[in-house]
Amino acid sequence: MNPRIIQKRQADVLVMFGATGDLAKKKLFPALYNMAKSGFLNVPVYGVASSKWDHSQFAQHAIDGILAAVKNPDSEVLEKLDSHLELIVGNYESPELYERLAEVLKDKEKPVIYLAIPPAAFENVTQGLARVGLTGRCRLVVEKPFGRDLESAIHLQDVLEAVLPEKRIYRIDHYLGKESVEDILIFRFANSIWEPLWNRRYINSIQITMAEDFGIEGRGAFYDGVGAVRDVLQNHLLQVLALIAMEPPADMSAESMEMEKLKVFRAISALTPDEVVRGQYVGYLDEPGVAPNSHTETFVAAKVHVDSWRWAGVPFIIRTGKALAETTLEVIVEFKQPPRMLFAETQEASPNILRFRLGKKDGVDIELMAKAPGDHLSTIPVQLNVEFSAALGERQEAYERLIRAAMLGDHMRFTRIDSVLETWRIVQGILNGEAPVHPYFVGSWGPDNADELVGGHWIDL
Ligand code: BG6
Repeated sequence: MNPRIIQKRQADVLVMFGATGDLAKKKLFPALYNMAKSGFLNVPVYGVASSKWDHSQFAQHAIDGILAAVKNPDSEVLEKLDSHLELIVGNYESPELYERLAEVLKDKEKPVIYLAIPPAAFENVTQGLARVGLTGRCRLVVEKPFGRDLESAIHLQDVLEAVLPEKRIYRIDHYLGKESVEDILIFRFANSIWEPLWNRRYINSIQITMAEDFGIEGRGAFYDGVGAVRDVLQNHLLQVLALIAMEPPADMSAESMEMEKLKVFRAISALTPDEVVRGQYVGYLDEPGVAPNSHTETFVAAKVHVDSWRWAGVPFIIRTGKALAETTLEVIVEFKQPPRMLFAETQEASPNILRFRLGKKDGVDIELMAKAPGDHLSTIPVQLNVEFSAALGERQEAYERLIRAAMLGDHMRFTRIDSVLETWRIVQGILNGEAPVHPYFVGSWGPDNADELVGGHWIDL
């Protein structure tokens, strides 16, 4: 972005609702630390919370989060960050809190207000901010999930739209802040070799897996009312799918990007229960905060069809789950077999595979056929690999990039309301237990029924 535009848009204060919560601790304070380290945090940061903490408890909460995420943090940077922090304690429902906030922010022209709070509290807080006039000038950053179904997302949008315009709303989907996810765009549109192959003529299937080898980690009270479809399929995984499937945008503006993603979402028909397998790990019901007879899914696999000229007939198979065999985030593009396998007599043929590794140690692998050593003309698969952090250096954390973008007024890494509503439309028919939930063992790859969904054919991770 042009430096003059940056200066004009640069926020002059950051306010974080939910500052004593888990998200703030695990993600937002480490992000602020990194920003302070790179000299980007030059504004005051006000935490807002209902916990009656004093400054030292608040600072300790921030430090605990930073220590868990950053190796050997620099003490000078920690001190600098501490000097920017202040906690405002109050009840989110009480008008007094907003009056105090308005007083504190009275000289600030471009506040960024981040709602790191449960979605159920968005409405109250937004209206509180509106009553004291803050929504007239703030940028509002809202965490996912945006609503819990199509209807509630429309309602939430009405609430927000009544007090501030879309251009000042920043909806977080932290996957859009991941450099690895953004690299899909570079891979596809900064290299000319893929485009001729990137369609139904050459691609057989696309498999997106987000697996976690841990359970719900004490988040039972939140997770049990949400489940895997709302937690990650409707947002993170459909966003990744859109980056894989979209047409080249006219330019890299937020608007052009959103337009292309929206076209992909519109081409996806609403999921029906027979296109989905839901699972729940054995032991989930014993987790604190989980209802004893809960049918919430901790695993979901779905077969998604993008009915466009480019993709008609190519299944996009998505699976995600907690307490699975490993933690990984991958997109696997399976190409078609060559029309005639000249070398099939000596070795079983396997299709070319392109693998985006999007989690930690992200990179790309391509599986090609090579000649197996020896007399025969037989084939053997070989891998071409690149690990980006080894080749190019450390990646930045998603939340750091997102907070920075919101503070610069750059919408590129945030979701727009029309796309969000489309993604709710896609999952709406599977949100309320329409597909049965099958048990699976901790450390497995989910219920066997998921294998049936893809005809027993998962490509190895
Ligand atoms: C969050 C979900 O949005 O994403 C969590 O609420 C999930 O359940 C997390 O564990 C995964 O994020 P990441 O960046 O670790 O892949």
